[in-house]
Amino acid sequence: MEKFVIEGGRPLKGEIKVSGSKNATLPILAATLLTDSVCEIRNVPKLRDTWTMCKLLRALGKTVDISGNQVTVSGSANTHVADYKLVSTMRGSFCVLGPLLAKLGKAKVSMPGGCVIGVRPIDLHLKGILALGAKANFEAGNVMATASRLRGAQMYLGGTFGSSVLATANVMMAASLADGQTIIESAACEPEIEELGNFLSDMGVKIEGQGTPRIVINGVKKLNGTSYKIGSDRIEAGTFLLMAVAAKGDIVVKDACYNHLLALIDKLHYVGVEVRKDGSDIRVRCKRTLRPANVVTHPHPGFPTDLQAQYMALMAITPGVSIITDRVFPDRFMHIAELNRMGAQIRRDIGSAIVEGVKHLYGAPVMASDLRASAALVIAGLVARGKTEIYRIYHLDRGYENLDQKLVQLGAKVSREKE
Ligand code: EPZ
Repeated sequence: MEKFVIEGGRPLKGEIKVSGSKNATLPILAATLLTDSVCEIRNVPKLRDTWTMCKLLRALGKTVDISGNQVTVSGSANTHVADYKLVSTMRGSFCVLGPLLAKLGKAKVSMPGGCVIGVRPIDLHLKGILALGAKANFEAGNVMATASRLRGAQMYLGGTFGSSVLATANVMMAASLADGQTIIESAACEPEIEELGNFLSDMGVKIEGQGTPRIVINGVKKLNGTSYKIGSDRIEAGTFLLMAVAAKGDIVVKDACYNHLLALIDKLHYVGVEVRKDGSDIRVRCKRTLRPANVVTHPHPGFPTDLQAQYMALMAITPGVSIITDRVFPDRFMHIAELNRMGAQIRRDIGSAIVEGVKHLYGAPVMASDLRASAALVIAGLVARGKTEIYRIYHLDRGYENLDQKLVQLGAKVSREKE
């Protein structure tokens, strides 16, 4: 296994280019199961999760050719059984359920179970496919879904914690080959869902409203192949904005979509950071002491849960007290213990994290846990006094392409070493 070794205290300067969106890539790769024709997907990020999804598609019988940041998928799925070993390593692969069910009339996919950010229920996924006429039962930790013919339906897909990104994705893909019209109320509005809708539209699905709470899909008999370029990763872009602010830097994040990050940018303006849209780039400069601000995460367009840990790392060194609450994954606080080992003063109380900003963090050996908690530790390491070693950085490699190289490009002292 590998670790990051970071010498803290260097400001970040210069520019980096954001990679393609991981969370758009995964459902779009799954959507290639809906056709036997060739789908060419460009600007795919080179990530562990991307390769896991490619392995899963191959295990399902698809031909998958990878060349740099381009993945070309063709051929027919020859089994409806999604490989447990692969699905259990990546919760996101549950989004093969909808397309397998639509294309083959049946699907057997292992339930995602829990992970370090909390329980990953599937009630909304099941509600959606049952509404389309499928039958589902559970067998040895798998969901077994069957449907002789899916029929369009109107459904409400909001849950206890609001909308569900991958449940919306599963239903959109299943509805693409269903007879008639499907209306999804309280659909997820994340930009990744908008991208999936655009991809399905390119494949010939009659779809509108993707990116809004109401998506209307008129199913078709057959989908064609297409060529599609994945948009930039808003969570990677947001992570770099927070890194630059924490390190009192001045950077340009290239190929970043300002409008996808309005909740974060609004918060950064409030705490005293200058963030400027510069064409398709975002420039961020932070020269002075910030003030704290509370954050509550919500489904898009609210403050993203995937930036909560990184924001907490910034508040850990911002004088004053801030309260951070995650309404999407209420237990997504694995990063607190590791940040405190670096000198942060963070405690959990009434379901939130209470952060008392300290003057300095101190380098220490820390353990990565989930993808975004690991990014928070990188931010802490960049600003800490001394050396920080972050172990198990395979968590980071799941969602950030060449993170160490991008940070070195910005002037950070980061090296990737054997543990
Ligand atoms: C997607 O996960 C993302 N993953 C997550 O990013 C992201 O944190 C999450 O959306 C929220 O934005 C991918 O896109 C691959 P949800 P997903 O279903 O779809 C509850 C990262 O770091 N819920 O939108 O699995 C659930 O418990 C990853 O890149 C139900 O109640 O998340 C949660 O509280 C981590 N019933 C809330 O909804 C369901 O059937 C949102 O979860 C499904 C979910």
